[in-house]
Amino acid sequence: MVKKVITRQELIKKYLEFFKKQGHKEIPSSSLVPANDPTVLFTTAGMHPLVPFLLGQPHPLGKRLVDIQKCIRTGDIDEVGDSFHHTFFEMMGNWSLGDYFKKEAIAWSYEFATKILGLKKEKLAVTIFAGNSNSPKDTESEKLWLELGIPKEKISFLESNWWEHPSNNTPCGPCTEMFYWKPNNLKVPKKFNPEDNNWVEIWNDVLMGFTKIGSKYIPAKQKNIDNGRGLERVLAVLNGFEDNYLTDVWHPIIKEIENLSGKKYNGNEKTMRIIADHIKASVMIIADGITPSNTERGYVLRRLIRRAIRYASLLGIKENFTHKLIEPIIEIYSDYKELKKNKNNIIAELDKEENKFRATLEQGLREFDKIKKDKKELSGKEAFLLYQSYGFPIEMTEELAKENKIKLNQKEFYEENKKHQELSRTSSSGQFKSGLADNSEATTRLHTAAHLLNQALREILEDKTIAQKGSNINPERLRFDFNFPRKLTEEELRKVEDWINNKIKQKISVVREEMPLKKALESGAHGEFGAKYPEIVSVYSISNISREICTGPHVKNTSELGKFKITKEESSSAGVRRIKAVLN
Ligand code: ALA
Repeated sequence: MVKKVITRQELIKKYLEFFKKQGHKEIPSSSLVPANDPTVLFTTAGMHPLVPFLLGQPHPLGKRLVDIQKCIRTGDIDEVGDSFHHTFFEMMGNWSLGDYFKKEAIAWSYEFATKILGLKKEKLAVTIFAGNSNSPKDTESEKLWLELGIPKEKISFLESNWWEHPSNNTPCGPCTEMFYWKPNNLKVPKKFNPEDNNWVEIWNDVLMGFTKIGSKYIPAKQKNIDNGRGLERVLAVLNGFEDNYLTDVWHPIIKEIENLSGKKYNGNEKTMRIIADHIKASVMIIADGITPSNTERGYVLRRLIRRAIRYASLLGIKENFTHKLIEPIIEIYSDYKELKKNKNNIIAELDKEENKFRATLEQGLREFDKIKKDKKELSGKEAFLLYQSYGFPIEMTEELAKENKIKLNQKEFYEENKKHQELSRTSSSGQFKSGLADNSEATTRLHTAAHLLNQALREILEDKTIAQKGSNINPERLRFDFNFPRKLTEEELRKVEDWINNKIKQKISVVREEMPLKKALESGAHGEFGAKYPEIVSVYSISNISREICTGPHVKNTSELGKFKITKEESSSAGVRRIKAVLN
């Protein structure tokens, strides 16, 4: 099955050698659990452990660094099952800490890709930052790519080519990405379209010229390069595989799943990929000291293991199997000594979790079938029962509901959950929400507008389950993510705007109260999906139309807002829409 053109070990060797030749010093991978950074659950990029040095602290090994960093991205869990999204992945990174900048970074990226790895020039395309109010269009990078021989039709300018860490006071900036044409039997189109999934992003050069402070972007004293490449994707395109799971970092695990289930990968791709992905990520997380639990990192781990068990059971694997996948994983990643060292502990933790969940999975599934009979909606109480009595993480119930085409009243689930003082099964993204410490007038107004938007969506779309899934507010605009299964129509968007502008015209007072969290929830205040709250919270009410638990700040009266306008509505991830809006 595997045509071994190049292995992970060979790729890593070539990579480190090339950048060492350019004066970079190798640093080891940091833990998946970020040290000294409570704002993120896991290390999601190579730059995380380097933030102090990117901000100017001298690094003991100098100004040029190179590494292979273990990463976990839980935001992509819904995408796992396709051929190229993974929960655990390795990032090949190289950094300039106030040393070289765009010219060398881009030239070396190109040289490494084409000369050292031999990727085909005609299959490469790039994206470049299109410019916004923080920073102008990056014509310098365009010039550099053109000089290297990337034709104009293979360059696309995007506003989204901006990379930043979710925490405050962190380095960020425009980025330029490399894409590769994956299909072997389709001609490379003349013109590059970054929306076409046949072009896979393999490379990201972040040209760090800014520091994010609150919601402002300040030109940085030290300009850095933060360059990251997903090892799994590069390995796949190097081998001419359209499916990452055919490479040597996945194939032995898939093979073991084939053995255990007696089924073939072909025809069961999605299920086997999810099992392999989730157990690999779980092994890595346990090796870095986390155990399954009901909060934060432990909850993410629990979700991963339980989802893998459910998928394994769909393949007919009814016995404990997770420990069987450990061997190939340890072998693939023999350079991570923590795996071998913690092998017995990893086996014990996986087995314990599997025993626990297997005891209730079948019963829980039967209960789900019973509940769903003749129903269009699963109530929050029922979802809570599945959670409390059968250990079904809400995300799993959500997935089951989706598979059965029934709705789930998530809001009610969270209310029920909170009533039982089972606070915040924090989803990974929940960790760094609402952390903006910017109190400018413009931001304050947009904060209040976001509360109105949240309510307007529930009203106009007639869907009480709509809840905030994330937000990001800066003085220019608000960005608001919420659960909804489809694109909004022009008419709906206009109605949402009108609803909000009407409330602005009505000059309604915004009132802040402080109360125990329990009381706030009992009084019907909405919280953010997955967010964690202290025992005493602030509740902001806009008459009786909106009531939210929020740290603020907010305006005193809706009349201060001006005119509300939606500038964009788009998909954010599966089942989540994103609205961008401004106040004029
Ligand atoms: N920090 C950049 C990324 O994660 C390289 O894509």
